[in-house]
Amino acid sequence: GTTLQVQSNPASAAVLKAAVSQEVTILFGSQTGNCSGLAQKLSKKLKEQGALVTVSSMSDFKPNNLKKLQNLLIIVSTHGEGEPPDNAISFYEFLHGKRAPQLDGMSYSVLALGDTSYEFFCQTGKDFDKRLEELGGKRLADRVDCDVDFDESAAEWMSEVLKALNAGNPSASSSLQTAGSSSAMETESEFSRTNPFHAEILENLNLNGRGSGRDTRHVEISLEGSGLQYEPGDSLGIYPENHPELVNELIEAMDWNPEESISVNKHGDQLALREALLRHYEITVLTKPLLAQAAELSSNAQLKELLEPGHEQELKGYLGERDLLDLVQDYQLKGISAQSFAGVLRKLPVRLYSIASSSKAYPDEVHVTVRTVRYDAYGRDRYGVCSVQLAERLQSGDSVPVFIQHNPNFKLPMNPDIPIIMIGPGTGVAPFRAFLGEREESGAEGKTWLFYGDQHFSTDFLYQTDWQRWLKDGVLSRMDVAFSRDQDQKVYVQHRMLEKSRELYEWIQEGACVYVCGDENKMAHDVHAALVAILEQEGGLSSEAATEYLLQMQQEKRFQRDVY
Ligand code: 2AM
Repeated sequence: GTTLQVQSNPASAAVLKAAVSQEVTILFGSQTGNCSGLAQKLSKKLKEQGALVTVSSMSDFKPNNLKKLQNLLIIVSTHGEGEPPDNAISFYEFLHGKRAPQLDGMSYSVLALGDTSYEFFCQTGKDFDKRLEELGGKRLADRVDCDVDFDESAAEWMSEVLKALNAGNPSASSSLQTAGSSSAMETESEFSRTNPFHAEILENLNLNGRGSGRDTRHVEISLEGSGLQYEPGDSLGIYPENHPELVNELIEAMDWNPEESISVNKHGDQLALREALLRHYEITVLTKPLLAQAAELSSNAQLKELLEPGHEQELKGYLGERDLLDLVQDYQLKGISAQSFAGVLRKLPVRLYSIASSSKAYPDEVHVTVRTVRYDAYGRDRYGVCSVQLAERLQSGDSVPVFIQHNPNFKLPMNPDIPIIMIGPGTGVAPFRAFLGEREESGAEGKTWLFYGDQHFSTDFLYQTDWQRWLKDGVLSRMDVAFSRDQDQKVYVQHRMLEKSRELYEWIQEGACVYVCGDENKMAHDVHAALVAILEQEGGLSSEAATEYLLQMQQEKRFQRDVY
């Protein structure tokens, strides 16, 4: 497996012998790599404190070892309707099942990642926290639930955990200066999520043909001089800006002064209001906590009523596709100062895009594939923040703050001979351009099979010439396409998969890895059902056994998903 055994280097370990008494296991579970990034960061801090640290994805962790743990730190995100992410499922089920051991004597703490715009905010983290307590674990530090912009809350949780571990280990605090820095991260770039690189845009093209209902950007970005490195399957994080029109309208609706200086964080950093609304705050999403705070600030009786018990459906309906401008207009929220209103807004979250290039094929560059989100709702045009910024306001020569988000959950097999099956309709095809680019550059021999789909062959065949070239060269062994709107009946990738069920099954029997990227709610769900059906039909398995088989594949990293 890829379990990382991270320990202090031997020299400092000897010096610290007296101090080293804490063994800490960090288990992470996340779809996007956020949690694994945080786990690495925490591990580094713990090592500096002289602790013996093991970091592992939940899916790599052997639950039988649970009983032996002294300190367990869990970093986990929540997916969809309060569900655990893929690589947390098996551990989650084990822990909540009858076979879970008593954990008296074990200390633990949970960091939960989530999004307050979802009903089941941080549910998976909450479940772990509750369950570990039920099993007799002792809470080392209170659980922290993070919103989309997790950096600050996560840092606070880490410092509580470090403090608590130090308190139980008095000699360790003296080790803080002597432990030395870890070597694992030393080759890393100085640029990161918290210190993004201002990268130049080299190319920005619309991949869709004239007459398409879609606008999908292929954006090439220079990483030259950044030291940033990535592998296929990783994502590019982009710090976007809000639409200037929306910002202006909001300022107008509230009678604010765009030049007024406001402080944007606890440290008192100042920005002009207009800048702050452009770059710092989220203004396109409404959440229940935001409405509650706005109701407080405005003493608006109507808004308060919407938040009272019995109005849940109404509230859900209202939150849907509305933004901050709707809120202040619908409830006429005048008379709130910009500073107090800003105090209740969430930070504008970064956008993550699956990288569409292999760095072996394009050194010092990174490519992303971004579908522009535009729609009309409640009498006004609505724009996806980052996608429309890319489509309308960022041209080659402009710069944009970026970082690399490593994603250990979506990786090519180490062995280049292993066949891969890639299912990626729409922009979900992006990472497979990286996969094939990588396999081409490294001369890998394993078979490859791509399922792609979009609305129309003539206008929506993203990267058509790349696939054709790779088919010709043999880098891509097979390709099946589903253009959903070129005939009367909808044809989707899963229909193509079912048509080829025999061969797909054979590939899986030969040890192929299966990758799914793209829309989570509909596509990934239906593709999952198709895979189960194929295993049932071709493998003679019951539906339960087929589902179990897929879970097993997931556990072995032979079934990986990057879904959003
Ligand atoms: P549609 O827009 O015609 O419904 C990429 O977005 C492609 O995925 C489109 O062809 C889209 O078809 C299709 N798609 C939509 N829902 C899907 C689903 N449940 N499963 C697979 N593909 C789907």
